[in-house]
Amino acid sequence: MSVVRSEEREIAVHWKEEEYVQPSPKFIGQANLTDPAILDRFTIDKFPEYFREYADLLDWDQYWHTTFDSSNPPFWKWFVGGRLNACFNCVDRHLAKHKNKAAFIFVPESETEAPYTLTYQELHTRVNEVAAVLRDFCGLKAGDRVTMHMPMILELPITMLACARLGIIHSVVFGGFSGEAAGLRAADSRSRVLIYADAYYRNGKLIDHKASADVAVHTAEAEGQTIEKVLVWRRRDGEDLSNTPMVPGRDYFMEELLKGFKRAKVAPVSLDSEHPLFLMYTSGSTGKPKGCQHRTGGYLAYVVGTAKFYQDIHPEDVYWCMADIGWITGHSYIVYGPLALAATSVLYEGVPNYPDPGRPWRIAEQFDVNIFHTSPTAIRMLRKTGPNEPLKYNYRFKHMTTVGEPIEPEAWRWYHEVVGKREATIVDTWWQTETGGFLITTKPALDPMKAGSAGPGALGIFPVIYDEDGKEIPAGSGRAGNLGIRNPWPGIMQTILNDDERFVRQYYSKFCKDPNSKDWRDWPYFAADGAVLAPDGYYRILGRVDDVINVAGHRLGTKEIESACLTVPSVAEAAVVPVVDEIKGRMPAIYASLKPGFSDGKQVTEQLVATVETIIGKIARPKTIHIVPDLPKTRSGKIMRRILAAISNRMDTGDVTTLANPEIVEQIRKQVQGEGPVELQEGPEDVKRFGEQE
Ligand code: WTA
Repeated sequence: MSVVRSEEREIAVHWKEEEYVQPSPKFIGQANLTDPAILDRFTIDKFPEYFREYADLLDWDQYWHTTFDSSNPPFWKWFVGGRLNACFNCVDRHLAKHKNKAAFIFVPESETEAPYTLTYQELHTRVNEVAAVLRDFCGLKAGDRVTMHMPMILELPITMLACARLGIIHSVVFGGFSGEAAGLRAADSRSRVLIYADAYYRNGKLIDHKASADVAVHTAEAEGQTIEKVLVWRRRDGEDLSNTPMVPGRDYFMEELLKGFKRAKVAPVSLDSEHPLFLMYTSGSTGKPKGCQHRTGGYLAYVVGTAKFYQDIHPEDVYWCMADIGWITGHSYIVYGPLALAATSVLYEGVPNYPDPGRPWRIAEQFDVNIFHTSPTAIRMLRKTGPNEPLKYNYRFKHMTTVGEPIEPEAWRWYHEVVGKREATIVDTWWQTETGGFLITTKPALDPMKAGSAGPGALGIFPVIYDEDGKEIPAGSGRAGNLGIRNPWPGIMQTILNDDERFVRQYYSKFCKDPNSKDWRDWPYFAADGAVLAPDGYYRILGRVDDVINVAGHRLGTKEIESACLTVPSVAEAAVVPVVDEIKGRMPAIYASLKPGFSDGKQVTEQLVATVETIIGKIARPKTIHIVPDLPKTRSGKIMRRILAAISNRMDTGDVTTLANPEIVEQIRKQVQGEGPVELQEGPEDVKRFGEQE
């Protein structure tokens, strides 16, 4: 995979250094991480033992004998010989001190429906009962896989914890993905049980989610995986909100099943540190999403440590992360990290601006939220639709997070000045599904903030920027390069399910110094992001360098969308490129050519939208679709996506004379941009570099 074009390697990234913003003395006075001496404990010469500090935040059934095992690179092992249970650490161990404390405050999307508070004691009761259903009714046991396709309701974390209690490996599929996407993931993970919700509210509408369950079952079956049981949670007890019939002998309402397991107790299963905790599918540079497999001990240690130090969660705080649990942010920083710290979290069902852009600030005021966590897309949207709304509400955030995409300094400043009322400390946390937890962020009470810049490596994490030849780009050179991490850490995924080879190829081969080496120093992690390192050691993330489009902080593979397009019968060829969007950061643009004999572009456009939504989900809905006579190709027949990305984003297409069909470029350009002259734009780094591997 070619990443940074050689001629571009030398080009300085023009970007004004932003001013430092200091955390307030009040924040520093109460923070979890205030002693700079910690930096001396986390120096690279003390790797890997410094991560004991994170693992010691957990309760172990059996203490580990070896902190880190590097005998089979890059398949590292962490806290070897240790035994623990993640559910015990997130629930049971808090009962002695915190049983009457709220674990979650569930806020329904409709403001007329009452919020519901779930205490740690109730969470314990419900998790045990659900675990009993999974074990005794479904016959599931440690190591089995279960797919959950659920919205943001309490039953989602409850069911995840019930799985963790038994060592069942959960695979949560984002509720907004289609039934087909859920079915493919269920087949890949060989799940025989699917867990659904009947319905949920989103943007004021009731969504019949059970309808996707039938699609998921059929899709999984077409892939050779039989789904024996579909467990369906009711969004409202005793009410049928879905019109989709239950299939007798396959579909069961959890509400009914639980009647047989009232107050059942299921002992947490003591599991090996390396026992897989969950799978999370994510997009990469090939068409098929990959199942990132995370381990129990290392992952839980890493998320509890980072939630404590970087989210600054204390038991008395009220924490609200607006992410969906169906993404890694929700797993690490709604479920496992905060619960392991006995946090109280708001769990909000709906979209941020429903019914109006004041909603998040009303929720913050009502529940006295003081730690807030969201994405640049939500920040941009709330800023655009309700720039002064935060000032109307009486809440005070001590701490705020931004995650998932690069944030523009303008949006950052609004977040700081208006949402944070100049009081809240902001962390811009860079990480990935694969990494389990934060890898680049400021230490909130110790480091100044800098708008648009994620910051230095997290404790014990040593990032690096490589040029295309694997040479390090020094700090302050102004040159962009490939972001890597020099050392392993406990939160890193174990492997890609069923594909060890791809795990090595995708994340390690590129900058591996010696494939035969057993020394971790020879195996830096390749993140597939571009970045620039400022003289002060702060990293600024420039976006993906592979075929992934980051839509509103959600990773979508262009190849995934392209293969969906090709299922439309009249489409001959399709190419998907990122186009800059004011709110969502990037969105997909589709270019398609038709098979001979087809000409109805409008009909094809509608079919393409519907198909992408059915196969992937609404999240992948394209911003634009262009039905074109042909796609620009090299003489060897490769589609030049880079040129299409340049056209969609009004950037310079560069030299096209070596193409097999150079004349098509001007024709497409006119079709997309119109006849007249067009002012070319500079374009962001990730779009500039898009499609370079061709
Ligand atoms: C991007 C989400 C800039 C990046 C946690 C990464 C970011 C991808 C940031 C991972 C940030 C994440 N600034 N870009 N603070 N955080 N990204 O797997 O391109 O859904 O590779 O994990 O999001 O997305 P994923």
